[in-house]
This record gives sequence, C-alpha cells and structure tokens, in this order.
Amino acid sequence: MSNPGKYYLTTPIYYVNARPHIGHAYTTIVADVIARRKRALGFDTRFLTGTDEHGQKIERSARQAGIAPQQFTDTVAAEFKGLWDRMGLSYDDFIRTTEPRHKRAVQKFFTLLKERGYIYKGTYTGQYCVFDELYVDAPPGSPCPDCGRITETVSEENYFFKLSAFERKLLEFYDRNPDFIRPETRRNEVISFVRSGLRDLSVSRTSFKWGIPVPDDEKHVIYVWLDALANYITALGWGSDDAKERARFEKFWPADLHIIGKEISRFHCVYWPAFLMAAGLPLPKSIVAHGWLLFEESKMSKSRGNIVRAETILEVLGADALRYFLLREIVFGQDGSFSFDALVQRYNSDLANGYGNLASRTLAMIQRYFDGTVPGAAACDPGLCQDAADYIAQFGKEFEALNFSRAIETLWSYIAAVDGFLTARAPWKTHGDVSEEDLKQYRADVLYTAAEAIRIITALVCPILPDAAAKVWSQLGLGDIRKADLRNIQWGGLQPGTKLGELGPVFPRAEKDAITRMQELEQKNNAQKPEEQNPTIGPAPAEAKGVEAAAGQVAPHAQANEKISIDDFMKVELRVAQIKVAERVPKADKLLRLEVDLGYEQRQILAGIAEAYEPESLIGRKVVIVANLAPRKLRGLESNGMIVAASLDEKGKPVLAGFLEEVEIGARLK
Ligand code: ME8
Ligand code: MG
Repeated sequence: MSNPGKYYLTTPIYYVNARPHIGHAYTTIVADVIARRKRALGFDTRFLTGTDEHGQKIERSARQAGIAPQQFTDTVAAEFKGLWDRMGLSYDDFIRTTEPRHKRAVQKFFTLLKERGYIYKGTYTGQYCVFDELYVDAPPGSPCPDCGRITETVSEENYFFKLSAFERKLLEFYDRNPDFIRPETRRNEVISFVRSGLRDLSVSRTSFKWGIPVPDDEKHVIYVWLDALANYITALGWGSDDAKERARFEKFWPADLHIIGKEISRFHCVYWPAFLMAAGLPLPKSIVAHGWLLFEESKMSKSRGNIVRAETILEVLGADALRYFLLREIVFGQDGSFSFDALVQRYNSDLANGYGNLASRTLAMIQRYFDGTVPGAAACDPGLCQDAADYIAQFGKEFEALNFSRAIETLWSYIAAVDGFLTARAPWKTHGDVSEEDLKQYRADVLYTAAEAIRIITALVCPILPDAAAKVWSQLGLGDIRKADLRNIQWGGLQPGTKLGELGPVFPRAEKDAITRMQELEQKNNAQKPEEQNPTIGPAPAEAKGVEAAAGQVAPHAQANEKISIDDFMKVELRVAQIKVAERVPKADKLLRLEVDLGYEQRQILAGIAEAYEPESLIGRKVVIVANLAPRKLRGLESNGMIVAASLDEKGKPVLAGFLEEVEIGARLK
C-alpha cells in the first residue's frame, strides 16, 4: 500500500489562568480522534497541543493567587498535561509558550516580520480588553464587543503589524480556497470582517512584563496572540538552530488542520494567515471552528463557573464514555449541551446495551458452542457481509467530512443490524429436529458472521473508543490493536480457528447512582477550590448574548466601573403588569403580542418568548415590565416596554420574572 503522506493537526493552546474543563477536553478529544484515524490509515501523523502562558490575564491571575507567574503557569500547565495523559490523549508534542524553544523562535519570527517591512513603530491610544487580549475600536469606557467587559484605555508607543496590507490578499486567498475555513457560517463571518476593512495591529505592549521581550527593545513584550499563534510553527522547530528540528518543520508544515473553538476564528483565520504571508511561509490547509459546549444553558467557561471537569466523568464512566458522548451527541460545528442525564443515557443505550452487549453475547456463545475458537462459516448474510463495504465507506466519508455524529450513527446502524440478525437467527435455540451437525454449522454461520462484523466495527470505532476497542480486539483473539494494520478493513479478515482471548465486560451498565455520584464529585471539587469560583454578575448584557458572560475575575476594576448609583437604577421604571391578551405574531416564530394592564393604563408589548410559553397560558399572569422604555417597532407593530425574564441565552428559554405573594398591578419595583 502506498504511503498516504503526512498529517499535521493542532488544537488551540489553552490559557493557564484556570484549570481545564470538558470544553477544552472536547477540542483535544476531537483532535485525538482524528489523529488516531489518520495513524490507522497510515499517515505520518503529528498532533500538537499545549498551553498559552503569557499575557496580562495570566500575570493578573498569578498575582491574585499570590505566586510568581512562572510558578503559577508551571502548576496549571502540569494539570492540563496530566489530565490529557490520564485520558490517554495521543498528542505527539505539548508546547508551552514559556519554553526557551518557543521564546527564541518567536523573537526570530518578530524580527523576520520587521526585516520584511511588516512591523513598524508607532503610538497607540485606545481601548483594550484584557480578558480577550484584544484591541477594541471604540470610545473610552466602552464594553468589549466580544465579551461585554469594560475595556481599558491604553496609550503607548507600540510596534504595529501592517495588517492593512493583507486585506486584498486574504480575500483572494479565501476565494481560491473555499475549504480553508469551515463551517460555512464561520467562513462568511471572517470574510465580512475582512471586507469591512483591516487596520494595522498593535503587536507589542509596555504596560506589563509577562511576555516575550521584543528583540533589542526589551521594554516591550510581544502581543500575546502573535506569541501564541506562532506555537504552531515553533513546536515543529521553525527558527531552531538545530538542523534536525528544522527538518521536522520542513516535513510537517503547512498544517493540515487547525481545530479551534468558534470564538477564536478571527485570530486564526485573519491574523495568523496574515502573519504567515508576511513571513513568506505557506498557509495552513484548513481551519475548523467548532461550536460551544453549553452547560446549564450557557457556554461552559471558567469565568461563568458553570464547568464540568473531565476527571469526574473519567472516574465514574471512563474516558471512552466522554469521547463517545461528545462526538455522538454534538453536531460538530454547532453548539451542543452537556448534561449528566444525557451522558448516562447515551452510555447505557449505545455503549453498554449496544456495542458492549453485542460483543459480549457473541463471544460468550462462541465460548459456549465452539469452546472459544472462531468457527468457519459456510454461508453469510448478505445484509451484513456484502453490505459491510457500504458501511465502511459511508463511515469513512462522514468521518472525512468531520460529521462525527453521522459517522457514528452509520456504525451503530450496523451494530443494530448485527443485533437484529442474532435475535432473528437465535443460535442458542435447537431449531426443531435438525441434525447435530447441521445445527453446529448453522451456529457457526451465524456466530462467524456476527464476530466478523464486530471485528470490522471495532477496527472502525477504535479512534473513537480506543480502550473498548483494545479490549474487544484482544477478546476476539487478535492481540494488541495498537499493532494491528487497520488500513484496509474488509469482510473476511477474521480467520476461523482463531482462539478467543480472555472474555470480560466491555461497558458495564452505569450504576443507578452514577448521575448523583458525578454531581457530588463536582460539588466536592468546587467546595475545595473556592478561589476558583467566579460567580457571574447578573445575566450577560444583551449585546454579549452567546459570548462569555460579563464576569469580573481578571479585570477587577472593570467590575468597579460597572457599578451604578441608585439614581441610575431609579431611571429604570420596573412595574408589575398583568397580561390580558396574548397571541402569536404571524411569521415570527419567537414573538408574542401581549396587551398588559398596569392599572393606570393598558399597553401593547412584543416579547420574544413564543418558544417558551403558550399564549393561552399567559393570560392573567402577573409579570414585571420595564415601563419607561422608548417605544419601538417590531414586525410593523409598536412595542411599549419590555418584559423582564431570566436566561435569555442562545439555547436557554426565557423564564418570566414573577412574585410568590400577591402584588398589586402597577406597583413599582425599587
Ligand atoms: O483562547 N465549548 O485559550 P482558552 C467548546 N489561548 N470548546 C471550548 C469551550 C466550550 N465551552 N471552552 C473552551 C484561548 N473551549 C487561547 C488560544 S491558540 C493559538 C490560543 C476550547 O483557554 C475551544 O477550543 O480560552 C476554545 O477555542 C479553546 O478551548 C479556548 O481556550
Ligand atoms: Mg477563552
């Protein structure tokens, strides 16, 4: 078989300002699954992950923890690495941006961009969001358009990168490479961002120290995103003095795939290609931005404090369970919700009762009827043996397109077919007065067919469920799956006469208390680490909907700026109103038209709550409204005020505010 070539893929390098959660695990697991499949197909694969350790955010987190930044980052980076190891993630390299190999190369990269005329010195005065490490084009005191936190005014002599020189080149590049950014929605966002005009980018800072110094001008440190993005080449050995290191760069660059979360698309799809163009280096072949893992209806994030740790799931259900859940349950590219209920449900139905049970019952019957030796078949069922090639091809096609959920569905429909086949053929029955010999051949046909199908399923599922696949493979008598050649899976690979390995459970059913055990582990962990709890201050501001909430951990004085006086509050006229009329607005799925009674007047309000409440159920209900909101028109109808509700998030449904005791209509809230 010819060598399919090399494959280089990366995850983002994670900030070390807090410990890892299953959002980080998600990206790293996806990368691991792809890396394992590429290796199985014979690619010379390199999988990089690591940690992003510089910048003001980290400096402040370290100060808050009362320790030196290097010591702080050492601790958290070790937690990331240790967790990935415990989860069996097969990264080939783990880069830390505080390593000498990275720092030296970043300085070379900076110097190269400067020598090529793309970095110059100038003065910058403007707004900076410390949380996102992002310059914001807005007046002083404005919130960050990405996260809603108040930006800080910085004024400093800076080095600038000539981003403006790449507007046209980038657009041409996107045009020529339609698969450069996936999915389509992210691609469109990026293109419209670039079309709206690119300004030069400040790429150094003087107001803090925790970063890589600008060569020969050490009061500046290099912008953390320039530092961080360069990891994808520095880890390969770009800029190294060692020829062997540089050869690795020559071999693996450009990257075949950068996997990222959608919120960092701009950095990867605009800044990174521009830096590479400026350096005269090839661009990565493709960037895929996945959606967010939501928990309790909003993005799982350290600043919101709504995190679930991978350790909890490892301890109760094992790493394969988490891998399976994330790939099967979430449509890759879209947001998806995590819940312990759904996790346990999937585990039991698809793993314990599905794949695990199929393997166990088949192998147990071979043990019983054939003394643990794979029998030879005289005939096979076309739906399983002839169609195997279709299942294999379909699985591969969906997988290549990164439709993991559908790839898994394909495989599980094969599992269901084998299960149905076993039940229909019932090899455990005696089947009337057939001869002993015929019965034996009948059982041999059925059990060989099932076992061979299981071998194929196991070979394909191996990148997704590496632990379980290794167990089943060895129970099938095929030895160590890590040494198996899985490049060209087809029907008939299982040799009759193969002696089964030692049998044992693959996915024991989850105990009844699995959910509560996981919840308790999370609670216990949270109680142990109170300093890491960062409560959210109120719901996210409307313009920050769907992005990280406005919490104040890393920018304490941003929180102070956001405090308002009682007079400010009194400007908002909140009142109790009773809903008298509620009806849907034609052609607007989300909107209800309400008429509410304030006692002193009746008015019309349009509310985006149609997906959460049936109009009939609202009649007579007392709600809280903002009574002095300027009127506005929606769908041609005037709305006079706003209904107050909780959790108006991307996925979450709004919940109307109300009262436990009786209240008078028109009463003011103050
Ligand atoms: O942005 N759902 O680091 P970061 C899905 N250091 N994925 C999630 C997630 C969630 N709720 N939360 C985190 C940075 N992730 C920079 C990157 S790269 C040169 C520098 C994953 O610690 C997802 O991959 O904020 C996201 O893009 C990444 O973690 C952000 O990690
Ligand atoms: Mg982030």
